[in-house]
Amino acid sequence: MSQMPPVRPLSDLPVREAGAAAPRAASTPDAMQAMLPARGRFITFEGIDGAGKSSQIAAVVELLQALGIDVEQTREPGGTALGERLRELLLHEPMHLETEAMLMFAARREHLAARIEPALAAGRWVVCDRFSDATFAYQVGGRGLDRGKFDALEAWVHPGLQPDLTLVFDLDPGVAAARVAATGVDPDRFEREQRDFFVRVRAAYLERAGRAPARICVIDADRPPAVIRAEIERIVRERFFQ
Ligand SMILES: Nc1ncnc2c1ncn2[C@@H]1O[C@H](COP(=O)(O)OP(=O)(O)OP(=O)(O)O)[C@@H](O)[C@H]1O
Ligand SMILES: [Mg+2]
Repeated sequence: MSQMPPVRPLSDLPVREAGAAAPRAASTPDAMQAMLPARGRFITFEGIDGAGKSSQIAAVVELLQALGIDVEQTREPGGTALGERLRELLLHEPMHLETEAMLMFAARREHLAARIEPALAAGRWVVCDRFSDATFAYQVGGRGLDRGKFDALEAWVHPGLQPDLTLVFDLDPGVAAARVAATGVDPDRFEREQRDFFVRVRAAYLERAGRAPARICVIDADRPPAVIRAEIERIVRERFFQ
């Protein structure tokens, strides 16, 4: 698009060239470091059900691929065979709130170990539909999970790791519910929650965004998809390619 800043040459990008040889043995720590691929970036999409996350993820993946980046698209809960089985339980099986929180983090632990960390270490970028901000918003904000228990689980499962960029799709719960209803798909255990639940979830997302403004961008999701897409493209370019 004409208003977008020029794309940097691929040689400036912090990624291993496609088909580059695997790192060879090196004799000093500095030389070893120089031979490792640059770590990939981790981008997450967040927001209440129906806010439009999934609709925009493909656009970001396409943008990154067009810039020559090796990208993995994934989702939570899920992203691994075990995680997808846990997702089925989480979305459809009634359970205690703390069971729900622990299963979310159990699926996340598996996802990090089996997929996210290896991809980032190999220089691939990871674009993920929901991560721990969702657990904060839904289980702490929506359901009233004790914050200290959330903090403990987060510190246990991914100490020192947060996404490089999080896009929170912010939308009135009534508008989001109408979008979900219009899909005609059977609602899951979360989508069946009432408006006041999503009001709390939305507020928790905004609270978390307020505490991590450098990482979390709040996107006004009550606009046409093409407008949202252009804003996200601008954010991604500014954040990583300027
Ligand atoms: N900006 C938009 N304006 C109007 N409708 C939209 C917009 N973005 C997405 N939709 C529609 O709203 C519905 C929900 O969108 P989408 O599945 O992307 O939301 P989501 O945030 O991924 O929801 P969930 O959390 O339930 O997966 C879809 O039918 C989609 O086509
Ligand atoms: Mg979705």
